[in-house]
Amino acid sequence: MADYIPHIPVLLDASVEFLITNRSGIYIDATLGSGGHSTEILKNLNDDALLLGVDQDYEAHEAAQEFLSKDKRFRPVKGNFGYLSTLIPDKYHGKIAGILFDLGISTHQIKDPARGFSFQHDGPLDMRMGDLSGVSAYEVVNEYDYEKLRDIIYHYGEERLSRQIAAEIIKNRPIESTLDLRRVIESVLYGRYIIKSVARVFQAIRIEVNRELEVLKSALSQSMELLMPGGRIVAISYHSLEDRIIKNFFRSGNFEGNIEKDFYGNAIQPLKLISRQIITPSDEEIKRNPAARSAKLRVAEKAGEE
Ligand SMILES: C[S@@+](CC[C@H](N)C(=O)[O-])C[C@H]1O[C@@H](n2cnc3c(N)ncnc32)[C@H](O)[C@@H]1O
Repeated sequence: MADYIPHIPVLLDASVEFLITNRSGIYIDATLGSGGHSTEILKNLNDDALLLGVDQDYEAHEAAQEFLSKDKRFRPVKGNFGYLSTLIPDKYHGKIAGILFDLGISTHQIKDPARGFSFQHDGPLDMRMGDLSGVSAYEVVNEYDYEKLRDIIYHYGEERLSRQIAAEIIKNRPIESTLDLRRVIESVLYGRYIIKSVARVFQAIRIEVNRELEVLKSALSQSMELLMPGGRIVAISYHSLEDRIIKNFFRSGNFEGNIEKDFYGNAIQPLKLISRQIITPSDEEIKRNPAARSAKLRVAEKAGEE
């Protein structure tokens, strides 16, 4: 494992303040990472509270384990939050006071060239966050057909030159490394925003490799079974596709964002919005931690009587 590069937690105070409604409650940090949020959550909890720290990344667990494992209130859980209700023991279902999602990848993951997430460093085309099964970036780049590649770049990267980029990737196969892929993408780009487009294509491939949107939807749906009435979901997202999923779900309990009505015409809303406005980092936070610049925080509470 490369030297562990700690991650600066984003929107730390606001997210923890919104999350904790009962200092003796049971909480889930669904994206443990370097444990920055978990450490702050634990500072705000009583001795009889419990925090379950989930991450699918083996290196995140090794790093967080070192300092959090000494705290009796903390329990690490290794796995993909797409299977959240299976990962969390049955005895806690319906009893969770809050779940935090701080989505995306950690500084350590992006800065370690061997993980293949970065277009700034040369590395293998990997991008898998969890156990090393499943499709890697190499397979997406070198084996997907033109239509599939184009659609991923268009839908997950929101990149308008998706057709040209997909065609160029196919023409240059096999593409072996992150910098080779960057060169191929750059060869069809022009204008002032080349780096932004490269970042969008890398983002698209990462979303496909980790099935990030599907997994987020599963996790949000399963959160409803885990939360107690009044329990909260605090979600920090970093791109518009994730934010849209969260926004729709918080508003309506489904991913289309359609508020259903009961027989009497009353809106059925399984969640109550706690923050009506999106919370974003201050200029000062972005200056201190540029990785926070696209962060958006939303908070909702499971409806019903406690
Ligand atoms: C932005 S980092 C979290 C940083 C953390 N809040 C901190 O303060 O150190 C996101 C973490 O979520 C993990 N992650 C992303 N998707 C996941 C998933 N589907 N299941 C489990 N963990 C996931 C990544 O491995 C990464 O460690």
